[in-house]
Amino acid sequence: MNDPALSYQEPLAGARPERRHLVVGTGAIAHAHAAAVAAHPRRAAVVSAVDIDARRAEDFAAGHGIPHWSTDLAQALQGRPDLAHICTPPGSHVPLALQCVEAGVPVLLEKPPALSLAELDELLEASERTGVDVSVVFQHRFGAAGLEVRQLLAEGSLGRPLVAVCDTMWYRPPEYFAVPWRGKWEVEGGGPTMGHGIHQFDLLLALLGGWTEVSAMAGRLARDTATEDVSTALVRFDNGALATIVNSLLSPRETSHLRIDTELATVEVEHLYGYSKDDWTITPVPGRESVSDSLVSVTADGQSGHADQVGAVLDAMDAGEPLPVPLREARDTMELVAAVYASAFTGRAVRKGEIVPGHPFYSRMDGTGAPWAESHSLEGASL
Ligand SMILES: NC(=O)c1ccc[n+]([C@@H]2O[C@H](COP(=O)([O-])OP(=O)(O)OC[C@H]3O[C@@H](n4cnc5c(N)ncnc54)[C@H](O)[C@@H]3O)[C@@H](O)[C@H]2O)c1
Repeated sequence: MNDPALSYQEPLAGARPERRHLVVGTGAIAHAHAAAVAAHPRRAAVVSAVDIDARRAEDFAAGHGIPHWSTDLAQALQGRPDLAHICTPPGSHVPLALQCVEAGVPVLLEKPPALSLAELDELLEASERTGVDVSVVFQHRFGAAGLEVRQLLAEGSLGRPLVAVCDTMWYRPPEYFAVPWRGKWEVEGGGPTMGHGIHQFDLLLALLGGWTEVSAMAGRLARDTATEDVSTALVRFDNGALATIVNSLLSPRETSHLRIDTELATVEVEHLYGYSKDDWTITPVPGRESVSDSLVSVTADGQSGHADQVGAVLDAMDAGEPLPVPLREARDTMELVAAVYASAFTGRAVRKGEIVPGHPFYSRMDGTGAPWAESHSLEGASL
């Protein structure tokens, strides 16, 4: 029996979780979502999986003990799951999320939430019109130490933030781009700015607040992609702080590094795909040594990851509150992505609020076109 509509009406064998989850797209990251839900066994369970590839859906369901699978999202939505996790390639995020929202099913949407600000605004309109929430996956906002640092900065315990550095220096060999949806504007929406560094600078924005202006450069230096393989940006924040951001897929010693210098301390985290408390350090200015003890009370020692965000989503559902990282907040991060490309491709600074309907970078992240778009490919240039 494989009828998702029935699955939601039947008790599961064993545990009876409060929330019934649907996973849409059963590729690589879907496993992290299944594990994240499994980390909350008395609160939630994945009860159905959907993929356009039946074999993948079936294998995924079998591997995670999920009672039902399907290739038809409309059919799965008839079962009225409590939350749909959208884990498909970026080009399908908005169409699938719209289908869920219009069916009244809240969404946990993988990053990047959309291919463009125009697409994101279409989903935002539907979400706000229907009152059905969309939560965007930015899991590094939810690590215990990261939440504590956010609180310290918000309450002013570290003084004013002044200078920040945000580096996503990762290495992806040429074979990585063999997957059909990678490295193309039409289906991935961008390169490391859109797809990789976005985690780290979303955390930067969560910690520092709104941004006002960006100047950027981007290059397609060593991979045979249509998108960039590296970008650099200078960002000014509402509170006056200045930051540099580097997003690279060409960096053999890989790291994700975020450093914020405030009036009272340097706060920094160095990790790769998830941090624990031990990855954070606080270096006080002379005479203010006590601020270095600020993270002592953080007891969680696991890595920041999907389980943290799923936990926060379940908390919000239980409390009847809006789901965390609503589209409106994620829009600030996506607008920064659009501004990085707009600045890099036009050679001038871009201010927040400048990219509106009619602006070339509103409907496509490559806007007027990447400078290298007309040049021949980098075939043979792989490192
Ligand atoms: N948050 C993170 O840390 C993180 C990490 C890796 C990937 N991601 C994001 O997760 C998403 C998926 O990445 P991936 O590496 O798992 O991709 P993948 O190619 O491994 O898997 C995608 C799956 O979606 C299925 N699919 C495609 N279109 C579909 C549709 N219309 N309906 C149903 N299923 C469909 C494919 O058949 C495939 O099984 C991307 O947006 C990526 O950026 C996030």
